[in-house]
Amino acid sequence: MIQTDSVVKRHGAVVAVDAVSLEIRRGFTAIIGPNGAGKSTLLAAIGRLVGTDGGTVSVDGSDVATTRSRDLAKRLAILRQDNHLAIRLSVEDLVGYGRFPHGGSGRRAEDREHVERALDLLDLQPVRRRFLDELSGGQRQRAFVAMSLAQDTDHLLLDEPLNNLDPRHAVSLMKLLRRLVAERDMTIVVVMHDINVAAQFADDVVAMRDGRVVHHGPVGEVVTAENLEALYDTPADVVEVDDRRVVLWR
Ligand SMILES: Nc1ncnc2c1ncn2[C@@H]1O[C@H](COP(=O)(O)OP(=O)(O)OP(=O)(O)O)[C@@H](O)[C@H]1O
Ligand SMILES: [Mg+2]
Repeated sequence: MIQTDSVVKRHGAVVAVDAVSLEIRRGFTAIIGPNGAGKSTLLAAIGRLVGTDGGTVSVDGSDVATTRSRDLAKRLAILRQDNHLAIRLSVEDLVGYGRFPHGGSGRRAEDREHVERALDLLDLQPVRRRFLDELSGGQRQRAFVAMSLAQDTDHLLLDEPLNNLDPRHAVSLMKLLRRLVAERDMTIVVVMHDINVAAQFADDVVAMRDGRVVHHGPVGEVVTAENLEALYDTPADVVEVDDRRVVLWR
């Protein structure tokens, strides 16, 4: 479980995250909201990638501010929205970096197992020896997701992991996240813009706007035409197809 209590993050005059208090339960939570709503900043604050200007974050009851970095990294993996690495690194070496918090150079049998598993799950075996700058955008995105998976944590935060993925790989990643929730009882938080994908795969949805959480609850409660129209200032219809919520923007 992830809890935030009145978390504030300012960028100069901009209040990117404005006193957000959230309790994210185990399972799959999607964070939605317009550009600039504060989604990435909130995720980064939870994962301690940025310092905060107030409030506390705890992961399974431990305050992240006082948790040693290596201990936090054994419990929580976070993938940022934009991943640019200036160094020339192969896919398998990048995924091996996910083992770093566990003290592994990536060479112990246990580390190798996690790396192989992540390469398999993200369909990266055919390109494992390629350098990151020799990959397509979607392949590179999958390599970074694989690194986060290899970290083998109970909590996984992914900021727009579907960027650049074709439908096959997007659906396969969403199904994989569902499987991790079912089999490993994980807490997975994913920022995404595709409401239909969020509605299909998430348990809960957090809707943010102007640094605040405006809705938080099960898909059926949050994904309504009224909520989405107000969230995005865009008219929408929400219909049910095969028990799924589907948004039709107008
Ligand atoms: N490093 C920074 N310096 C200054 N302002 C920033 C910085 N990072 C974010 N902001 C501002 O903070 C606010 C929230 O940004 P954030 O990246 O969290 O939004 P987001 O919801 O992730 O948006 P998107 O959907 O476009 O990714 C925005 O107004 C943004 O311009
Ligand atoms: Mg963002």
